[in-house]
Amino acid sequence: MSTPPRRRAPARRAKAPAKPWEGRFSAATDALVEAFTVSVESDFRLATQDIAGSVAHVRSLGRAGILPPREITRLERGLRAVEREIRAGRFRVRPGDEDVHMAVERRLTELVGEVGGKVHTGRSRNDQVATDLRLWLREQIDTIDSEIAALIAALGICAERDLDVALPGYTHLQRAQPVLLAHHWLAYVEMLLRDQGRLRDCRQRLNVLPLGAGALAGSGFAIDRARVARELGFASASRTSLDAVSDRDFVVEFLAAAALIAVHLSRLAEEIVLWSGEEFGFIDLPDAFATGSSMMPQKKNPDVAELTRGRSGRVIGALVAVLTMLKGLPLAYNRDLQEDKPPLFEAIDVLRPCLQIMARMMPRLRPRRERMAGAAGGFALATELADFLVGRGLPFRQAHAVVGRIVGACVEQGRALEDLSRRDLAAFHPLLDHVAARRVLSVDAAIARRRISGGTARRNAEQRLAELRTDGLLGPARGRRRG
Ligand code: ARG
Repeated sequence: MSTPPRRRAPARRAKAPAKPWEGRFSAATDALVEAFTVSVESDFRLATQDIAGSVAHVRSLGRAGILPPREITRLERGLRAVEREIRAGRFRVRPGDEDVHMAVERRLTELVGEVGGKVHTGRSRNDQVATDLRLWLREQIDTIDSEIAALIAALGICAERDLDVALPGYTHLQRAQPVLLAHHWLAYVEMLLRDQGRLRDCRQRLNVLPLGAGALAGSGFAIDRARVARELGFASASRTSLDAVSDRDFVVEFLAAAALIAVHLSRLAEEIVLWSGEEFGFIDLPDAFATGSSMMPQKKNPDVAELTRGRSGRVIGALVAVLTMLKGLPLAYNRDLQEDKPPLFEAIDVLRPCLQIMARMMPRLRPRRERMAGAAGGFALATELADFLVGRGLPFRQAHAVVGRIVGACVEQGRALEDLSRRDLAAFHPLLDHVAARRVLSVDAAIARRRISGGTARRNAEQRLAELRTDGLLGPARGRRRG
């Protein structure tokens, strides 16, 4: 990605080349207005897509017989030369280059002479920017898709490693029932798979060519839009020009998907923060992924997780910004639409490093198995006892009440469920006068019982991992399974 070249101070505006609309105007643009309307610092990111769109457009002008072959060749060569300058970081944005489109056209004209002014035949910046942005976002979606895939694979590594690690599952952040740590990681895999689905869905809908819509009413030149679409890898050409130049649904859809990815990462990050604290003590952070305190020598802080959690707000903010920008716009193009790009770029710049760093960090977190297992038992096994009574024919409501009394008594006496003898249990209900009643009070048994599809039993996690592997979503099988 080429970085936007530094602009010179707007004070040099007087030397700027004439504006394309100069014919209509008799006074130069006020310097403040110029600075206020300029967008090249941000939209220069679209430069290579802008060139790709222009090359396809120029060729279509040639095929339609609107420009002669020698001019097409000249323009295409010129555009490629500009592209090389951009890729090499040699391109210089000049005062007066309002946006990326004008910067590219200005440079093209410098290189090829007056014929450069023909590149914009039958085109408007309105259909041009819509085309550039779709091309650019399409690439970004593919990259983010593969970054999600890397995180899924990283969580798969964790899940395979943690097939025999139990911890309490929580509801209301209260210990609820034991679950496998592998099952916990796989829950995030499911979220991320849906995130990928949303991105792909969005990609499919955005993959439509706006070029040819002109400013709003359709170009007056008969270019073959289906052909241009094919050349640029679009599935089709837009059907209604007014919509094509004003639609930013695809930005909103993407940002909604991105916001949800950020929220999923934030939830995972929140658990890492909680679990790495002494109160939970469920995981150890690797030194390489933690920071210390400048004042308190004992500290090891989960900053990576905290920043991932914190930055989700910026992605959500981008979604809200673009929705708000759009909501009052009449058809068709309005300059407000220029404001779609900074939040979109910001969201992507924030999200991608979060995905990358989480993928690196997750397999390096070290679960403290004993600590987790120790927390998984106790009252988190109360449901097991109630289910035992149900298995012996007691209606669930009564079973619930019996076990509720047992738990209440334990709390009062400071005892754990597992401490109760067969006789202690029998005192609460005759059906509990059985060795099997005590045997259900085991974390492993509680997990193993939940073989129902989607349940936390180990074989389900193994099966899910096998499916993921078949789907090519995990790395090659590892010989490090335990248990
Ligand atoms: N920089 C503009 C944008 O991002 C390009 C389109 C400008 N069109 C116009 N009619 N002023 O939206």
